[in-house]
Amino acid sequence: MNTDILLVGGDGDLALRKLYPSLYYLALNGCMPANTKIFGMARSARERDAFVALVKKWLIENTGALYDEAIWNEFAPCLHFVQGDSTDPDSLKRIKDTYFTQDASLIVYLAVPPSIFGKICTALETAGMTGEKTRVVVEKPLGNSKEAFLAIDAEFSRVFKENQIFRIDHYLGKESVQNLLALRFANDIFEPLWNHRHIDHIQITVSEMVGCGNRWDFYQETGAIRDMVQNHLLQVLCLVCMEPPASLDADYVRAEKLKILKCLKPINTTNVKEATVRGQYQAGTIGGEQVPGYLQEEESQGRPSDVETYVAIKAEIENFRWSGTPIYLRTGKRLDKRHGEIVITFKQNNTRLFRDQLTDNSANQLVIHLQPDEGIRIRMMNKKAGLDARVPLIDRTMDLSFCETAKEKRHDAYSRLLFDVIRNDQTLFVSQPEVEAAWDWIDTIRAAWASEDHRTVGYAAGSAGPQASDDFMAQDNRHWHNGATD
Ligand code: BG6
Repeated sequence: MNTDILLVGGDGDLALRKLYPSLYYLALNGCMPANTKIFGMARSARERDAFVALVKKWLIENTGALYDEAIWNEFAPCLHFVQGDSTDPDSLKRIKDTYFTQDASLIVYLAVPPSIFGKICTALETAGMTGEKTRVVVEKPLGNSKEAFLAIDAEFSRVFKENQIFRIDHYLGKESVQNLLALRFANDIFEPLWNHRHIDHIQITVSEMVGCGNRWDFYQETGAIRDMVQNHLLQVLCLVCMEPPASLDADYVRAEKLKILKCLKPINTTNVKEATVRGQYQAGTIGGEQVPGYLQEEESQGRPSDVETYVAIKAEIENFRWSGTPIYLRTGKRLDKRHGEIVITFKQNNTRLFRDQLTDNSANQLVIHLQPDEGIRIRMMNKKAGLDARVPLIDRTMDLSFCETAKEKRHDAYSRLLFDVIRNDQTLFVSQPEVEAAWDWIDTIRAAWASEDHRTVGYAAGSAGPQASDDFMAQDNRHWHNGATD
């Protein structure tokens, strides 16, 4: 079936930086269905040629070595510019009647602020554009609390069915995140060990070097917990911890993820101080460059703030598989490195054979690198070679780097997701109940922070995070895995 794609906010940052390049990657991979038309929609007038030139400029900048003039020449004819107001039904109807292909599927991507989602939905309905051939794509922030999310969602569900709404979490589009499904369910060796009997604890880290300078006002409204944990980290946690789904179809995968979110132990006033750490970056040095603290960022204009730019949380899943195995989540801005990883630390059965040599640091560990490099490392104990009378142990790492496979990659997270919208596959999109359950857990933590006056602690930009976060692990006799050096 032919597909028309309408990008609302078609000359905005998200569209230019991410969406057109991702659609181009579909063409590069031969995955763009024939006769697909892409309409960039914006309020201000533009000539088609000028619009295409603008898209090309951004595309060259964002696709690097993957830019191919021949593919661009195939792709460019798909692009069209339409001027109009997406909240005005007459505008939409005019565009539909003038440009859209008769009987084609319609994908409406809302690359605009959520404050106008409701009006756009109403306008789409009045313009007769919400039929079953329409899919709508939205992205976070979908509210900043459960209540706000439900209000936004009500606007969508009034005119669209759940199977027409594609909620993007770009982490689910990452190869390394999807690889979790392959790692867990295509390799039989892990399944018997994947539970509280054999796993001591799990760490999920997303550390970033960027600051919040140009997004200060946005960060004031979100903080790390709502910007990163409510969506990306919880989605990763779900994929790591969920039961094997009956199939990889959307309904089954999403149902299993939801069960995990529903089993998260609430963090409330009784345990919030032991279970969470909030941090805010202060001035420091990153890559040899002096950077300001959060409160000194230019956009802050000297305003005070206790918003967290770093958060660590001890999550617990109260089900048969995971009861007793904590999952530590941490994420922060202006840290010493950009990396994302999942660390599974196995329990040590301290047999008498090596009791004198085994320490807390010799437990087997499976480290899954999410970014920037993808790979898997397994820490194992080995015999140290030599003529020692004992069997001396040495800790060695089996390193499976996926860099080679990654080099073959000719797409990004968004192209994977856009491809799935075109194919009408919701597996990698977040369902309404998942978002709601995630907000439930996050809202409870935030309410406890407020009522317990749980304040941020400082950490120097360029450091690994606040000292309080190390102390937080030490209280459980554990420590954070320190990337490649641990
Ligand atoms: C976004 C957040 O959703 O994810 C940003 O709003 C964050 O604050 C970004 O920097 C991280 O994404 P990635 O793909 O660079 O890890």
